[in-house]
Amino acid sequence: MNIISIKKDYLNKIKLLNKYNRFYYDNSNPKITDEEYDKLKKEIIKIEEKYPNLKVKDSPSLKIGFKPSKNFKKIKHKIPMLSLANAFDKEDLKNFQKKILNFLSLRENSEIEYCAEPKIDGISASLIYKKGIFTTGLSRGDGIEGEDITNNLKTIEDIPKKIKSKNFPDEIDIRGEVFITKSDFKQIKEKFANPRNAASGSLRQKNPEETKKIPLKFIAYTFGYMVNGNIKTQSDFLYNLNLWGFKISEYNKKIHGIESLNIFHKKFEEKRYTLDYDIDGLVYKVNKFELQKRLGFVANAPRWAIAHKFSANSSISKIISIEIQVGRTGALTPVAKIEPVNIGGVVVSNATLHNEDEISRKDIRVNDTVKVERAGDVIPHVISVDKTKRSTNSKKYLFPQRCPSCGSRTVKDFNESTKKYDAIRRCINENFKCEKIAIENLKHFVSKEALNIDGFGKKIVEKFWELNLVKLPQDIFSLDYSKIEKLEGWGRLSVSNLKYSIEKSKKISLERFIYALGIRHIGQENAKLLAQHLKSIENFHELSKTDNINILLNIDGIGEAQIKSIETFFSNKTNILIIEKLIKNMKIFNIMPSRKDGILKNKNFMFTGKLKEISRAEAKSLVEQNSGKIISNVNNKLNYLVIGEKPTNKKVKKAQELNIKILTQYEWLRMLKKIS
Ligand code: IVH
Repeated sequence: MNIISIKKDYLNKIKLLNKYNRFYYDNSNPKITDEEYDKLKKEIIKIEEKYPNLKVKDSPSLKIGFKPSKNFKKIKHKIPMLSLANAFDKEDLKNFQKKILNFLSLRENSEIEYCAEPKIDGISASLIYKKGIFTTGLSRGDGIEGEDITNNLKTIEDIPKKIKSKNFPDEIDIRGEVFITKSDFKQIKEKFANPRNAASGSLRQKNPEETKKIPLKFIAYTFGYMVNGNIKTQSDFLYNLNLWGFKISEYNKKIHGIESLNIFHKKFEEKRYTLDYDIDGLVYKVNKFELQKRLGFVANAPRWAIAHKFSANSSISKIISIEIQVGRTGALTPVAKIEPVNIGGVVVSNATLHNEDEISRKDIRVNDTVKVERAGDVIPHVISVDKTKRSTNSKKYLFPQRCPSCGSRTVKDFNESTKKYDAIRRCINENFKCEKIAIENLKHFVSKEALNIDGFGKKIVEKFWELNLVKLPQDIFSLDYSKIEKLEGWGRLSVSNLKYSIEKSKKISLERFIYALGIRHIGQENAKLLAQHLKSIENFHELSKTDNINILLNIDGIGEAQIKSIETFFSNKTNILIIEKLIKNMKIFNIMPSRKDGILKNKNFMFTGKLKEISRAEAKSLVEQNSGKIISNVNNKLNYLVIGEKPTNKKVKKAQELNIKILTQYEWLRMLKKIS
């Protein structure tokens, strides 16, 4: 990448981070996980380290948090509330210690005494006590200036309002974490994304009576300043906090050296899920205050402390029950309902078990203790079972043999080429009466890549089905709008918007239409192959006639499984009727020959991230219409990686390594001359 694109990339990243900051601090509604946030921030810092000239004056790397919300009076912290540097592995820890030893000019093998504490994932607060009376309570805000949330903090039982202990300092700024327990969160989980948001939202209420309704807890762990205190170590300070009436973590521990810290971390990672509050790592602090003082600070974090994070994408939980979902193609997918657990900032209470075979291979049972993983946009799934935690009366899980939606028989297909039975059990949908399959088919029909009917989401399909407004795809074109207008949540404007989107969706390309039918094994790629070969909807319709199906044998890329599936589809009269009705209602475009010498000739493209205003399918088709090619791997053949919102970082990184040109959606569209 040349310096201009590096600068562009750097500024884009800052813009993105600032945007996420606003969501987080102003709306108490994070759009990304902490892990993703940390990663983005790290990327910015890395660029700044490599290219110091690029660094902007107000880089978020220099800021600790973000501006406090405008609702509260702002008060400057006497001592700034800093953040902590993060360590993700042993290497990072070694580095941390190395810097300390260097700074203190100690021998390489000297052992430092640390105080290890759980890092509670809540909201930090600073409490000022004067002569034993709690006078002012501040949020962290941007670290320099906090919000005066004294009245809200006063509603928290764990915060002592008056302290009489003899050795309590004349004046002290006690700092700690406000949080909500997992069990309390269960009662209010509809209102907030995770316990941390609940705590933050509740602390930022204007009305303390509202704060009071949410059972907030407080654990103390440090101080900003203290007048006339005579304490020498962090562990002693914690001990005193407890004597003064503050709650402290019962897991705080004095530990010597990196090796032991690492062992403690490993053990704690397992224990983490048994605690009734979320923790996202451990904090290690050099225990002696005298050393802390000498070590001081770098930028916005102390040199004497570090947060050793837990892996952000997996956690341990327990299976409460196993439910069977029926998908569009009749696949029965087992889903584990689990004890809610916070994985990387998202509360997870469902985890897929994939299929019947997976359950028997891993011998997954109800009540089992399991490890659950959640990575990116992938559905959380169970990785392993801890059989040592299984009770003696636990029973093997019996997979249902009948469809839970319609009671039909279920089968596992036999794959002729592998000579094996499929891992997936399917509902055979006798007489095409399976409700779940029908609803899923409708959702697919209106989805973005198919008819792309704006405002016709999954919930609406379910609602309309329930009200008998839509049972078959063609019903969408004869909706009773007067009935819809009277439904709760609907009005004139939303109905007219829906009407408009439905009208718009009537004009459709043949490939999208074929894809929209949801024939098993006919995804976007195969639908395109079929459309290119058949050219018109009439030819597609003709496939319903016996023998015609054989013409598909000539299509490169369409195999036996696809042909068999199309045959089954057309052997059903309801399907033929659906197609005939749809043809009458819609305008299905025939295939235009694509250009061979368009402006993107000999150029390979790949997309990552969400594009604005157009679907991925349309973007791909635009490339192809202009003679470009879409490839699915970042390798030397790739000429351009087009990035939308939240791109997959791995792809971007790999492209950068290979010097592949990275385009934003707008740069790409400009290339196509779609925008000026
Ligand atoms: S000490 C200068 N100790 O982690 C160090 N922080 O990224 C000040 N936190 O803002 C923090 N548990 O919200 C410290 N035992 C603990 C902590 C802890 C949670 C949070 C706190 C802080 C953030 C730092």
